Amino acid sequence: MILVTGGLGYIGSHTVVELLENDFEVLIIDDLSNSSMSVLDGINSIINKNIFFEQIDLCNAKDLSFIFQKYTNIRAVIHFAAHKSVGESVSKPIDYYKNNISSILNVIDEINKKSEFCPFIFSSSCTVYGKANRFPITEDEPIKPAESPYANTKKIAEEILYDVSLTNKNLSVISLRYFNPIGAHSSLKIGELPLNKPQNLIPIVTKTGIGSNDKLIVNGSDYNTSDGSCIRDYIHITDLAKAHVISLKKLLSKDSLKSFEVYNLGTGKGTSVLEIIKLFESISGLKLNYEIGPRRNGDVPISYANPAKAERELGWKANLSLKEGLSSAWNWEKKINNL
Ligand code: WQD
Repeated sequence: MILVTGGLGYIGSHTVVELLENDFEVLIIDDLSNSSMSVLDGINSIINKNIFFEQIDLCNAKDLSFIFQKYTNIRAVIHFAAHKSVGESVSKPIDYYKNNISSILNVIDEINKKSEFCPFIFSSSCTVYGKANRFPITEDEPIKPAESPYANTKKIAEEILYDVSLTNKNLSVISLRYFNPIGAHSSLKIGELPLNKPQNLIPIVTKTGIGSNDKLIVNGSDYNTSDGSCIRDYIHITDLAKAHVISLKKLLSKDSLKSFEVYNLGTGKGTSVLEIIKLFESISGLKLNYEIGPRRNGDVPISYANPAKAERELGWKANLSLKEGLSSAWNWEKKINNL
């Protein structure tokens, strides 16, 4: 059984689909603070297999311990559960440190109580690189001071996992550093749930396209980039989800040489905000209502991956194009607005 924490979230739900399609048995733990049971229905409508589900807060050590006693056949953990808004973390740092760090410490505690091998995949982020100096960004890019409490919780969690993996031989870790996940499952049964006001560019673009957001503000056009707007590496959510299954298989096969390994998950291509707008307009046939605004605090001008290590060591690379990702995001937006 594979424990997927935060398994009803955006990346978690797409990963659960891929796990089920690879015949893994899945237990989802989710506190539903940023998701809903409708996502479980969506997963079941894509692939009708039994999914175990428990709604608990991972910060409650007692409840989590009960789950590990109930499901004694947990043989690996994929940990997504975390608060994830960069902007919100700046205004609520304590919430982010308490939630993101306590939850992972409790999960590691339970794994340490197990006597058998139980590998761990961590949902990390390219934000650990801060303002990188070299592009494309490789895994040995020096880790810089975090630009936000969110990014810092990812850095701290990686450091905790590294230290514990050195002492606990039953805990092999792969930390996956996501660049910018976008899009929705091809079935449009799951996608990025609009529970809170979207912070990320692509959902804001599609909400502006559909009319529920009246205007897109481009956060700055005076950066030292081709057109002055920020550059990011937008990776299709399905490519990202597949990388977790490949990583899991590698860990379970125990052919991982090291107890702790990191991989960048990106396409290796950078795209600017203004280029995204142009691509959306060509996909949708709409004229997007946007204007140039001030820079956003905490933004790095450029961030895109060198995914060569994941290709070399995992045999994974992104296959779906930016156009496919943006089209699926737009189709998802239309679907959840019944259009
Ligand atoms: C992208 C660009 C904005 C909104 C995300 C995740 C983070 C991490 C990395 C996984 C920036 C600009 C945005 C808008 C804009 N992923 N923008 N107008 O900041 O790269 O971080 O990917 O951990 O968790 O948050 O993504 O989509 O917020 O911004 O101009 O209305 O789009 O300034 O340059 P970001 P984003």
